[in-house]
Amino acid sequence: MSDLPKVFATRLMPEDVEARFRSEFDAQPNETDAPLDSAAIVARAQGCRAIICSPTEKMDAETIAALPKSVEILATFSVGCDHIDLKAAKARGLIVTNTPDVLTDATADTTILCLLGAARMAQESEATLRAGKWGRWAPRDMLGVHMSGKRLGIVGMGRIGQAVARRAKGFDMTIMYHNRRQLEGSDDQGATFYARAEDMLPLCDFLALTCPLTEDTKHWLNAERIALLPDRAVVANTARGPVVVDDALIDALKSGKVFAAGLDVFTGEPKLDPRYLDLPNAFLLPHVGSATVETRNDMGFRCLDNLAAHFAGQPLPSRVI
Ligand code: DGY
Repeated sequence: MSDLPKVFATRLMPEDVEARFRSEFDAQPNETDAPLDSAAIVARAQGCRAIICSPTEKMDAETIAALPKSVEILATFSVGCDHIDLKAAKARGLIVTNTPDVLTDATADTTILCLLGAARMAQESEATLRAGKWGRWAPRDMLGVHMSGKRLGIVGMGRIGQAVARRAKGFDMTIMYHNRRQLEGSDDQGATFYARAEDMLPLCDFLALTCPLTEDTKHWLNAERIALLPDRAVVANTARGPVVVDDALIDALKSGKVFAAGLDVFTGEPKLDPRYLDLPNAFLLPHVGSATVETRNDMGFRCLDNLAAHFAGQPLPSRVI
């Protein structure tokens, strides 16, 4: 029997992370990497002091209540915690940690990719080429909208929103943001704060959603807010699928009110509303915001650092509750 703390990980992590996990802990990996339901998580956690979970597992109140008493800490392999019922975790006395900072750049890069990919019709261009339908270069073909020099509104000016703003400066964009609170000092990257989204939306040629999913941001981009955007605006969502009302965005993409959307996240993912697949002006990615070797390693190491600190009785690098 190992003296090391027994830790169950719901998903396989990148190889270097997995090697450290298996050397520093009594590691209980999910060798098949298949997403697990609540009953399987509870069963696999028996005798474990910690669980490493990810956004693919719903750690709802029932699951948390059913976890064995041995579980002290939940380390999620993500910055987002919307898959965890934090109230229930707190009531149960569970510590929860996440992986902020290390994925800021990768996710901001993906946000720019979504804005630019949508604006320049990357989806339709590539599909045309791959289908062998690229007949010739033509002055009128594949005309996107220009991103450089336009006005960008950012919804959610946390670390990722700020990193998007820094990148957007390189595109000479006029940058605005809507956030729960106005940022202090130079954190705003020179962007203009709008306390009321309704005042900012009519100015947004481009709109980037980078907020966490909460009760306040669920279904935030609805038909009423889309109607406030300028005609032919471009929208990117790298936050969470449910921040957007799919019916409203799909209608706007069909009518041309929204010129194009770049989406990395979807309600009900990995399933998504199939109507998106038929829209040439939807640039779609399978939730790859943080998917670089460097970033996923750093996220995994951050999970392990949190656990190591917890078991050593030291302050945790990124504690949520
Ligand atoms: C997160 O960390 O919350 C991301 O969505 C996963 O990349």
